Amino acid sequence: MKKTLKDIDFKGKKVLVRVDFNVPLANNEVTDTTRIEAALPTIEYLIREEAQVLLISHLGRPGGQVKEELRMDPVAKELANLLGKAVLKVDDCIGEEVEKAVAGLENGEVLLLENSRFYPGEKANDPEFAKQLAALADVYVNDAFGAAHRAHATTVGVTEYLPAAAGFLLQRELNELSKVMDNPTSPFVAIMGGAKVSDKIDVIKNLMNKVDYLLLGGGIANTFLLAKGYEMGDSLVEEDKVALARSLMEESEKKSVEIVLPIDVVIANEFAADAESKIVMADQIPTGWQSLDSGGPKTIEKYSEIIKKAKTVIWNGPLGVFEFDQFAKGTDAIAKALAESNAHSVIGGGDSAAAVNKAGLTKRMSHISTGGGASLMFFEGKALPGVEALDDVESSIPENN
Ligand code: 3PG
Repeated sequence: MKKTLKDIDFKGKKVLVRVDFNVPLANNEVTDTTRIEAALPTIEYLIREEAQVLLISHLGRPGGQVKEELRMDPVAKELANLLGKAVLKVDDCIGEEVEKAVAGLENGEVLLLENSRFYPGEKANDPEFAKQLAALADVYVNDAFGAAHRAHATTVGVTEYLPAAAGFLLQRELNELSKVMDNPTSPFVAIMGGAKVSDKIDVIKNLMNKVDYLLLGGGIANTFLLAKGYEMGDSLVEEDKVALARSLMEESEKKSVEIVLPIDVVIANEFAADAESKIVMADQIPTGWQSLDSGGPKTIEKYSEIIKKAKTVIWNGPLGVFEFDQFAKGTDAIAKALAESNAHSVIGGGDSAAAVNKAGLTKRMSHISTGGGASLMFFEGKALPGVEALDDVESSIPENN
């Protein structure tokens, strides 16, 4: 068991909190505040406990150098709105300016540091950078579930130098995801979409030992259909994964897992939002056409039926190019079927969460993870470095002497 906020007395302490404020921006404004809102319980708790709160996050992928458009200022503004309280902001995450601001903090005040990825030491998990960050605080809290699959200075490195505990969001995410992976009620259905089999191989392999149905969509399904001998026209496929897809299908029979593939699909004459499109059976994709959505009516009916019977569902990855409206049918139908079902539904972050959000169905899901890559790694059955690095709770059972 990892240490949590309740295991630590925060009063008057400087607490370095790693949050995942990697949020979408447009014209220097935050366009989706979900991740900021998700971190509020931890931040508000630390304020109430009279800690001095130092927040740190990455934003985008600046490549280890300062990128003006990726400064944390719009996030600070949004956070202040949501907290209903001033949020101080500094333009660096280590160095004199930061030390001065930290020294001037009063109990209950909140200071947001600059984008951690402006330093190459963040991704490199450089001990020197981690040490300098840790020197700002007395305690470290990780509440960045979305970044827990990264072994970086702010998620792993700093834990070498400070007592380290899990925040409420990290705890909640781990509880929700463990619940479905460790104790699922049958029928247990996994829906896996997205472009590539190679991104999801380890997840599929791990789920094969747990689920009753594996519904495939998107580019992943194309490669499986190719492995069945279907002509896929100009669809995105991974030729080098065909043998693997075939062996996974054989294995599924032995394990009585039903791998379910699209029956009919929406095809396009080019990869474009306004491409000409039509619905065809999955084994009748003509040359010059490509499947952009595993969302033909027969596929939707079959997948929705299975979801209706399910008691537990996990979903990661869209069933088509849902950014183009006419190829969002499969993805939208899954979101709708999940909203209507009584199953315990857990949505991996990233694109599937965005699709649920776009359909206005967020409240109808049991849990929507704030982490895309992190939830995928969890579904792979692997330990998350950012969680592993936290302190264990010492056993309360006295040793025999
Ligand atoms: C995410 O958005 O999935 C996390 O913030 C991690 O971001 P990254 O993939 O750039 O490490």
